Amino acid sequence: MKKIYLDYASTTPVDSRVLKVMLPFFSKKFGNTMSLHSFAQESKQVLEESRELLASFIGAKPSEIIFTGSATESNNLALKGIAFANSKKGKHIIVSRIEHPCIMESAKWLETQGFEVTRLPVDKYGFINPNDVKKAITEKTILASIIHASNEIGTIEPIEEIGKICRERGIYFHTDAAQSFGKIPIDVNKMNVDLLTASSHKIYGPKGTACLFVREGTRIEPILHGGGQESGLRSSTVNVPAIIGFSEACKICKREMKKEIQRQTKLRDKLIKEILEEIPGSYLNGHPEKRLSNNVNFWFKFVEGESIIIQLDLLGIAASTGSACSSVKLEPSHVLLAIGLKPQEAHGSLRLSLGRWTKESDIKFVLKVLPEIIKKLRKISPFK
Ligand SMILES: Cc1ncc(COP(=O)(O)O)c(C=O)c1O
Repeated sequence: MKKIYLDYASTTPVDSRVLKVMLPFFSKKFGNTMSLHSFAQESKQVLEESRELLASFIGAKPSEIIFTGSATESNNLALKGIAFANSKKGKHIIVSRIEHPCIMESAKWLETQGFEVTRLPVDKYGFINPNDVKKAITEKTILASIIHASNEIGTIEPIEEIGKICRERGIYFHTDAAQSFGKIPIDVNKMNVDLLTASSHKIYGPKGTACLFVREGTRIEPILHGGGQESGLRSSTVNVPAIIGFSEACKICKREMKKEIQRQTKLRDKLIKEILEEIPGSYLNGHPEKRLSNNVNFWFKFVEGESIIIQLDLLGIAASTGSACSSVKLEPSHVLLAIGLKPQEAHGSLRLSLGRWTKESDIKFVLKVLPEIIKKLRKISPFK
């Protein structure tokens, strides 16, 4: 059976061009960047070249890039690191209601440590209103953290405007760009951000590495203490093979981004148009255009998302109900509830995320089988 992967938002395969660059760094060029010998020098040089490349990709200085182990870690470092370094100024933090669980849970944990958290609502498309950010800022606010593009519904937030407000009010601004990095242009200066999270395994690089952009002069505490790597902000022996893979993945994204956006947008729009036309009781989640070119998310009346995933999987199609992290929970997605869906409606969701190797024939196959699957599931639906 032919396999069709439409879950690129959860993770991507490593591009063979990336893997080729990484391989020598596992067994031949394996030095610890903190040692003094030539093996170490070789690793250190590669690390700094990768840092320069990543920095130039987002308009940052190399010294502003901190390599971490994952986007989850970068987000934890951003929230907890800023919170603890600036608690004398105030203990109030702003996030949105559609953040990834690693931001939501970090914010919740900070509440147990005496911080106050405001969770901003979104409209029916998932947009945060910059005015709501403005109104939520108080004398005690130290940080706002707003996702760049939703991992579930693909909505791209007005980060530049929100960043401008935060800058005017003298508070730090972090954005989680794990889904947008490598897919749409990012410039940390234009976007007025002080901290930005980017991930490798969402852009055809390896798992186990990510980074946090931290603007020069930002007061931030580490959450890992040890040997002092990454300017003291992330102690741990540096994962050089993964980092060189991450930087190679960035290089390829930079080269291919424009063409890839055009190609994926066409496929995405075909999916949206034909699913809405062919399947009665189907609704698009998120904005029709102001969304990532690789994301579609629907809900279907009288069906459960999990049953759709199982039926698609039986035909070789890998899809998801929302984020990979929340799909194991039985609760409806907090993102879909935030855009106004009722719990039962949110349970009927399907996310298809496209990627570098998605072909038109894959989309045609989904369009051929999905209407039948929904029809079949509705016949046996207990919701009806
Ligand atoms: C927006 C966003 N933030 C953070 C993460 C966490 O990434 P990881 O699980 O690789 O740490 C993800 C992963 O799905 C994501 O989509």
